[in-house]
Amino acid sequence: MHLHVVDHPLAAMALTVLRDERTPRDRFRPALHDLATMLVYEATRALPVMPVTVTTPLATTAGTRLAAEPVVAPVLRAGLGMLPAALALLPTAHTAFIGLARDETTHQPTAYLESVPDDLAGHPVFLLDPMLATGGSALHCLRLLLDRGARGITVVAVVAAPEGLVALESGLPADAAAELTVVAAAVDERLNDTAYIVPGLGDAGDRIFGLM
Ligand code: PRP
Ligand code: URA
Repeated sequence: MHLHVVDHPLAAMALTVLRDERTPRDRFRPALHDLATMLVYEATRALPVMPVTVTTPLATTAGTRLAAEPVVAPVLRAGLGMLPAALALLPTAHTAFIGLARDETTHQPTAYLESVPDDLAGHPVFLLDPMLATGGSALHCLRLLLDRGARGITVVAVVAAPEGLVALESGLPADAAAELTVVAAAVDERLNDTAYIVPGLGDAGDRIFGLM
């Protein structure tokens, strides 16, 4: 697994806003959008491209376009908070939706939506979820995406727990784990007794969408 922790002053500032318990929804969402922009920018650094030519008002010169259409896969609900930023940077991307709810007691995810293309072979895939806690939700998604032919998947997270990173490494087939990239703004200290990330930022879905 390749782990890339984005180290940038603007990312650190946005993460601080997200962590602050006093940040209300109307400031949380734009801060998440800004941070997701930076994370997706880094996550797409190695996207395969192909050369094209482009004619400027003065001359014809070399240009670049993506070699394949990417797929972005937000994990509902909280991953939806990262989707507009991802689609702004990747306007030709397809979107796959995976809806999961983590059981409060067992911490295991239950799937309520799996709207994923049947054949992901050849498409760069970006899994969007602000929180990588136990890793159970990400593992569920990664297995689904791998079953549909995805290779070299990138998980884009805001905060990752060490326990979640270990779970991804040990819970996937060795070749898939070796090809996996995780891009995050921070790797935090640990999980608490209720499998929340400490210091973390609390319940990402509730902070984006509210409790009602
Ligand atoms: C949260 C979060 C992740 C998951 C992480 O979602 O958004 O998807 O928990 O936890 P894990 O790594 O231990 O699986 P939740 O199930 O609470 O749903 P929500 O996004 O709708 O709030
Ligand atoms: N889900 C969240 O939203 N936050 C955590 O800290 C862990 C799981």
